[in-house]
Amino acid sequence: MIQPVTEIKVGLDFGSGIQPVGRLAIRDRVIYFEYNEDFTQKGIEISPFRLPLQKGVVELPQRPFEGLAGVFSDSLPDGWGRLLFERMARAQGILPTHISPLDRLAHVGLHGMGALVYEPDNSPSAVHELIDLDHLALQTEEVLQGSSEEVIKELFALNGSSAGARPKALIGVDADRKNSSYGAKQLEVGYEPWLVKFPNSQDGPDAGAIEYVYALMAKEAGVLMPDVHLFPSQKGAGYFAVKRFDRDGNKRLHMHTASGLLHSDFRTPSLDYEDLLNLTGALTKDIREVEKMYRLAVFNVLAHNRDDHAKNFSFLMHENGDWKLAPAYDLTFSSGPNGEQSTMVMGEGKNPAIRDMVKLGLEAKLSKRLIEEIIEQTKSALARWEYLSKNYNVNKVNVELVLNSMLS
Ligand SMILES: Nc1ncnc2c1ncn2[C@@H]1O[C@H](COP(=O)(O)OP(=O)(O)OP(=O)(O)O)[C@@H](O)[C@H]1O
Ligand SMILES: [Mg+2]
Repeated sequence: MIQPVTEIKVGLDFGSGIQPVGRLAIRDRVIYFEYNEDFTQKGIEISPFRLPLQKGVVELPQRPFEGLAGVFSDSLPDGWGRLLFERMARAQGILPTHISPLDRLAHVGLHGMGALVYEPDNSPSAVHELIDLDHLALQTEEVLQGSSEEVIKELFALNGSSAGARPKALIGVDADRKNSSYGAKQLEVGYEPWLVKFPNSQDGPDAGAIEYVYALMAKEAGVLMPDVHLFPSQKGAGYFAVKRFDRDGNKRLHMHTASGLLHSDFRTPSLDYEDLLNLTGALTKDIREVEKMYRLAVFNVLAHNRDDHAKNFSFLMHENGDWKLAPAYDLTFSSGPNGEQSTMVMGEGKNPAIRDMVKLGLEAKLSKRLIEEIIEQTKSALARWEYLSKNYNVNKVNVELVLNSMLS
């Protein structure tokens, strides 16, 4: 049952117990936050720009996150997870407009993505059994077409508050990549936490294979990527799965998107890669991380990944407060608003060219030699598209479409 809450305790759990961070409260639809005094003394900044450590109660801004600070909004599912939650609410006779962001956070509870935890914990109980991905894919399809409450409950538990538009499930995968068990909460021995994606209604049956080939090419281009796997499927070319980077064995890492860090609405693109490079420098204070972000920018632009919005870049904070750019995710052939690049390159969104990429790198104080090296390495990785895409059964029309859209 969805139960309204008026207060939430926020904590951090790096895998060895919860440390209190602060308290959220809602009054007359306005949300307030106060850091726990002991926590402020530790000097660990969970969101240094928009919610820096401070004494006393702060009123959180209405926009762009429905009254929440970006760091808490990042814990909430959007797209698919939100759809499931609202379907469940409707089945209980509750209108989505009557659900507050705090009610939603209570449903993330102690087992969300990243390391932030919320109490009371109203998260669904875990499901432990071996799963059949084809069966799961079929169920997500049914939901997209509008269907029964029973399926929704199960899918909701599986989604485990992951974000993004596409249906997905948090699963455990064994070392041989053969068996997958589910349950985002606790995995059996020998299983690692992974995330598997299913096509949405606009995707073709080869969407998983395309994303898989993009991941292989990104690795060759030197972009930091988690382990990926293409699970066989009955209907299409396979299900794309990726190892979770917000978990490391039993450890948890605090995860924050560029959108959440900057309070930038990812649905109305306004960022430039220049902003992302500056953000990376300011947060990590490490030129190697800036280089990582630059490599990702080059890959996205050259590979025609134009849905590169502010929630498709994340940073990870370790227990000691150090930040790093998270490995890359959601790299695939895609179009942005009006066909443009969602994140611009030195003001150019319509058709960013190699010279804009060079300008961007120089602006970020990278050497000309390194910039050229990165661009060349990316080009030669992308040259593998035709071979790899055919090898993984991407539809012929899509092989050509991507080939003709890539920047050379
Ligand atoms: N390997 C990973 N480890 C941890 N979290 C991840 C990983 N990959 C993705 N995520 C998280 O899951 C969210 C959804 O993933 P992704 O962006 O791939 O899905 P999507 O539904 O295709 O997104 P979009 O709505 O941008 O199309 C991401 O925003 C990110 O927070
Ligand atoms: Mg995404």
